Amino acid sequence: MEESKIVQYFEGKTIFITGATGYLAKIFLEKILRVQPKLKKLFLLIRAEDKRSAEQRLHEEVLNTELFRVLKEKYGADLCPFLLSKIIPVCGDVSYENLGISDSKLREEMWQEVDIIVNSAATTRFDERYDVAMGINALGAMHVQKFARKCSKLEMFLHVSTGN
Ligand SMILES: NC(=O)c1ccc[n+]([C@@H]2O[C@H](COP(=O)([O-])OP(=O)(O)OC[C@H]3O[C@@H](n4cnc5c(N)ncnc54)[C@H](OP(=O)(O)O)[C@@H]3O)[C@@H](O)[C@H]2O)c1
Repeated sequence: MEESKIVQYFEGKTIFITGATGYLAKIFLEKILRVQPKLKKLFLLIRAEDKRSAEQRLHEEVLNTELFRVLKEKYGADLCPFLLSKIIPVCGDVSYENLGISDSKLREEMWQEVDIIVNSAATTRFDERYDVAMGINALGAMHVQKFARKCSKLEMFLHVSTGN
């Protein structure tokens, strides 16, 4: 498929990304914001104690990194409002049912609006405890699949698999 058609596909779409503070997700996030600013919304699952901590992690570990320099140059002072209009940080953990998203209103909103899921949440530590690795990489993947089945508009589910 031509690159322009792929970019066009994402116009108006709502994407849910897990593992949003991770290496692959950050690269995907930056690229999609850069090439398709007309995407509708991005829900980003972030492990944190509460919404405020999730927002803090999003800014410190994702948006304020060197990776986003090109976007900063492109948008200047408009970058913050642009990002705020697109990104919704979601506090959660794939090890739990409903991905640990305790806000039922937010869950419903996601089930109604999400078109695409990119699941890159994983433990990538080679020396991870077996039960922890199972809880995230196997059970977690299952929880994301269960969550995906509830998304009434879902068009695409990408699971970035782990070798662990
Ligand atoms: N990097 C590569 O070149 C590459 C190539 C092929 C395949 N992969 C696969 O792609 C996946 C992602 O790789 P990566 O390099 O992006 O890994 P990474 O940098 O280690 O990121 C993993 C992400 O998953 C999150 N996470 C871990 N446990 C979680 C949980 N219980 N609930 C929610 N989020 C959780 C981490 O959050 P925290 O920040 O809270 O820990 C982090 O955001 C892995 O399955 C990896 O095997 C990677």
